[in-house]
Amino acid sequence: FNVPVPTNEPVYTYAPGTKERSLLKEAIAAARATEIDVPMYIGGEEVHTTKKGKLTPPHDHQHILGHYSQGTKEHVKQAIDAALAAKNDWENLPWEQRAAIFLKAAELISSKYRYKLNAATMLGQSKNAYQAEIDSACEIADFLRFNVKYMSEIYQQQPPISPKNVWNRVEQRPLEGFVFALTPFNFTAIAGNLPTSAAMMGNVVVWKPSNTQIYSANVLMQIFKEAGVPDGVINLVYVSGPEAGDVIFKHPDFAGIHFTGSTGVFQDIWKTIGENIHVYKTYPRIVGETGGKDFILAHPSADLDVLNTALVRGAFEFQGQKCSAASRAYVPKSLWEDLKKSMERDIKSFRIGGTEDFSNFINAVIDEKSFDKITKYIDRAKESKDAEVVIGGEYDKSKGYFIHPTVILAKKGDYETLSEELFGPVLTIYVYDDNKWEETLKLVDETSIYALTGSIIAQDRYAIEEATHYLRNAAGNFYINDKCTGAVVGQQPFGGARGSGTNDKAGSMINLLRWVSPRTIKETF
Ligand code: SER
Repeated sequence: FNVPVPTNEPVYTYAPGTKERSLLKEAIAAARATEIDVPMYIGGEEVHTTKKGKLTPPHDHQHILGHYSQGTKEHVKQAIDAALAAKNDWENLPWEQRAAIFLKAAELISSKYRYKLNAATMLGQSKNAYQAEIDSACEIADFLRFNVKYMSEIYQQQPPISPKNVWNRVEQRPLEGFVFALTPFNFTAIAGNLPTSAAMMGNVVVWKPSNTQIYSANVLMQIFKEAGVPDGVINLVYVSGPEAGDVIFKHPDFAGIHFTGSTGVFQDIWKTIGENIHVYKTYPRIVGETGGKDFILAHPSADLDVLNTALVRGAFEFQGQKCSAASRAYVPKSLWEDLKKSMERDIKSFRIGGTEDFSNFINAVIDEKSFDKITKYIDRAKESKDAEVVIGGEYDKSKGYFIHPTVILAKKGDYETLSEELFGPVLTIYVYDDNKWEETLKLVDETSIYALTGSIIAQDRYAIEEATHYLRNAAGNFYINDKCTGAVVGQQPFGGARGSGTNDKAGSMINLLRWVSPRTIKETF
């Protein structure tokens, strides 16, 4: 059974004078002009409550985009009930029909809703037009289309041997219960992928987005409904983490969690699931992508331009808030002075401001809590004898949460910003003696608990091979002569191990296999 052969959604540039640019600007203006009232969605119903949360652009925090209805534990219970009520019909639908619904969702994203969803991501999460485009137009459409392809392959995989008078087969059952999708702010695509990948495989879902992504989550939910996702299959609730957890992790039908967020929260979830393990009908699937301290390692043979571009783009696009963002770099002494000059030149040319002005490259970090956390690290670096702020270091939260791209030079290999996750536009560089390459490999491998992405920049073939082998457990996505961000669905399955997650590669068959529970059937004639 063939499904359409997926290809990557083309990326629009929004260059001056293009029709796409005008349409996106119109969508942004329309969104800014209307204050919306965002409901939760439970069993297909829009649920409004009197307790409201504010939706504001991080780069213009006094502007009200709208309000969302805050739910309680009661709403989480209702969402679980609605999901379980929808389960039978959904899982008995032929998988081709489920596939068609998600292919239609991809089509709606790439056409009818492209500008609306991008505008929501730009305003709600402070992404510039390009960053929004590669996320909330392309990556999400790619997830949906490629996952349908992987799904079709999973359903067609059968045991290779059935001897005479026997028919061996494997039935890919959805999980017995409901799946909880707990999604992050930093990619609208990830927020969309976590509930849909589980739902595609016949599961029903309770989805709790980050409070800072509700504005675009609401558009995604409208798209899923319009594409034909039946009532109750994906239920969207806005409650606090503890409120959701208190109901979900004590429910006998809890069958799995699809998570992207912080390492600390994920570890707490594991513990809670462990404590309640006797309650569940089945061992829940625990799938998570968590923190990162992604590295770029430069060898003395590195091409300076390649290194500079990898660092500047890898560290500062979307204000360093990609899980894959480069936040520590190891640079040989012989390259450092020239590298510093080229980084200074590029960083000075970046314009900083709101996403409505398309010439701004750097926008705001997501919220005040992030701003305060990141700027404390910058302040400590300014005062530390073990570090020096060599580029940037300015910040201002009066209108929006703006932090200038900042480069910290660490004088010790264990300086705090070389190992701790800041999740912002701060790159820490450690300059090593050219003859200490072996020691530096060890430092890269051992400095942080995370292992999400990393790059080696080198022209020397031996150094490339050595780093690729030595650092085999230091990153789940490893790049040679490229930045460590920008994994494309269908090209580089994404995810890391160690403190960075369960490495069930988003956008791959591995991930979809976590949302089924196979039954082997042997029939003898
Ligand atoms: N595709 C993103 C990146 O690699 C993560 O979802 O940056």
